[in-house]
Amino acid sequence: MFTLAYLAALLAGSSDPQTTPLAPSEQVSSEQPAGSVDWDKEFGVERVDRDPVTGEVPIAPYEQSNANAQATPFSDAKLLAAFGGRTGIQRIANRLVELSEADPRISDVFKAKDTVRLKRTLFEQFCYIMGAGCDYTGRTMQAAHKDLGLQRADMNALVENLQQSMHEAKVPFSAQNRLLAKLAPMEREVVVR
Ligand code: HEM
Repeated sequence: MFTLAYLAALLAGSSDPQTTPLAPSEQVSSEQPAGSVDWDKEFGVERVDRDPVTGEVPIAPYEQSNANAQATPFSDAKLLAAFGGRTGIQRIANRLVELSEADPRISDVFKAKDTVRLKRTLFEQFCYIMGAGCDYTGRTMQAAHKDLGLQRADMNALVENLQQSMHEAKVPFSAQNRLLAKLAPMEREVVVR
């Protein structure tokens, strides 16, 4: 049975007729400025500040050189055409990163890594090697992979993803193998001994 007070409270928009104002000691102060607590610090959250233009996370300075790509470039217009030129190479590099990030065999390695930078530098490396007129601005293979603890199986998985990316881009098998032959010697720089 409704009491009169309950009905009055309902009409006033409150469903709890027992509601009494909070004592001053119970009230949450709204005077504390909103920005005074560093919640990232409180909860140990590490913030990464990406470059607003490139979207990349800045890394420690290193010497840039095409030699860091660690392969002699091709000079073969037919081969380049088989890869679909620069656009085809870009698509293949992006797809390789996406497939690898989604590949349960190796996805953990890519977590918390700057895949914006990885897509750019991988494209530059492939573009340089294919003789498509790019400079490679990334690090050496040893420097880029030294803390990743990669094994031979990881390398095999990555190569399979690259084959898949080239297959999707309709690169003929013989042309695929020419790029793979340039990358194969890099395994000793990438995997841990
Ligand atoms: C021949 C084989 C490989 C090539 C040509 C290659 C190429 C590259 C390039 C160009 C970079 C960027 C360098 C830079 O940031 O300056 C890079 C970084 C990276 N690579 Fe590879 N890579 C190879 C093998 C692998 C394998 C097998 C894995 C893992 C399964 C892998 C995972 C990564 C990751 C996670 C990064 C980012 C490292 C970081 O940001 O600290 N790579 N790789």
